[in-house]
Amino acid sequence: MSELTGKTAVITGASSGIGAATARALANAGANVVLAARRDDRLRELEAQIVRAGGNAASVATDVTDDAAVQALVAAARERFGGIDILVCNAGIMPLSMVANVRLEEWQRAVDVNVNGVFRSVAHTLPHMLSSGGGHIVVLSSVAGRKVFPGGAVYCATKYAVRAFAEGLRAELSPAHGIRVTVIEPGAVATELPAGVADEDVQQSVRQLYEEQTVLEAEDIAAAIRYAVTQPAHVSVNEVLIRPTEQPL
Ligand SMILES: NC(=O)c1ccc[n+]([C@@H]2O[C@H](COP(=O)([O-])OP(=O)(O)OC[C@H]3O[C@@H](n4cnc5c(N)ncnc54)[C@H](OP(=O)(O)O)[C@@H]3O)[C@@H](O)[C@H]2O)c1
Repeated sequence: MSELTGKTAVITGASSGIGAATARALANAGANVVLAARRDDRLRELEAQIVRAGGNAASVATDVTDDAAVQALVAAARERFGGIDILVCNAGIMPLSMVANVRLEEWQRAVDVNVNGVFRSVAHTLPHMLSSGGGHIVVLSSVAGRKVFPGGAVYCATKYAVRAFAEGLRAELSPAHGIRVTVIEPGAVATELPAGVADEDVQQSVRQLYEEQTVLEAEDIAAAIRYAVTQPAHVSVNEVLIRPTEQPL
C-alpha cells in the first residue's frame, strides 16, 4: 500500500508542465488522479500512461474560467472515485507585459484563469471537503507572488492574490475543519508557460531568464507537492518557495 492509496486528487492544468508531473507523482504515491485542463487529447494520453503504469486516473476536459465546467469536474471526480481528498489549483497563464502597453484583455484573462479559476475550483470542492471532515488544498503561486518586477505587474497581482487567499483558507479551515492548505511558490520551471508571453517588449528578458540558468524541472515541483500532501494529519506544510539555485530574483 502506498502513501496516498484510497485518496483522490483533482489537478487543474494537468495537460502539461507542473500539473502533468504532479498527476504522475501523486498517482505513483497511490492516489486516484483526476486530470483537468482544456486540451482533452493531452489529458487522455496522460490518463492512459498512468493507467498503463498501474495507477488510477480519469480525465475531464475543463476550462477553469467556466463555472459550470468546474462544477461538472467536481461532480465527475466524486462520481468516479467517491470523493475529493486533494485539490491542486495549478491551472495558470503568464501573459507578462509592460503596463504602458495596456493589454487589458490579457490582464482580465490572467485574473479570470489565475485568480477566479482558483476561486471556482475551491468553491465547488470545499463543501464536499467540509462534509467529509478534511482535505488538502494546494495552490500554485510563484516567486512572482512575493516579488513584483517590471513586466509582471498583472501576473504578480494574480499570484499575490492566490497566496493571500490560500492563507485565508488556512487560517479559517485548518484549525476548525482539519483542511490543510499549501502554497507552492516556484521560481523558473521548464514548461510551456513562457510561450504565452505575447508582448514583444518583455519576450527577450523572459527568454533570458529561462535560458541563462539551469531552471527547475516540473518534477522538482511535483516532488514538493507530493511531500506536502503526504505528511501526517498533524503536520501542515503551508508554504514551499523553490528557486533554481542560480536564480537571483
Ligand atoms: N513555469 C514556471 O516558471 C512557473 C513558475 C511559478 C509558478 N508557475 C505556476 O505553475 C502553474 C502551472 O504552470 P506550468 O509552468 O506548468 O505551465 P504550463 O505547462 O503552461 O501549464 C499550464 C496549465 O494550465 C492549463 N490552463 C491554462 N488555462 C486554462 C484554463 N482556462 N482552464 C483550464 N486549464 C488551463 C493548461 O492547460 P490547457 O491549455 O490544456 O487548458 C496547462 O495544463 C501555473 O499556475 C503557473 O503560474 C509556473
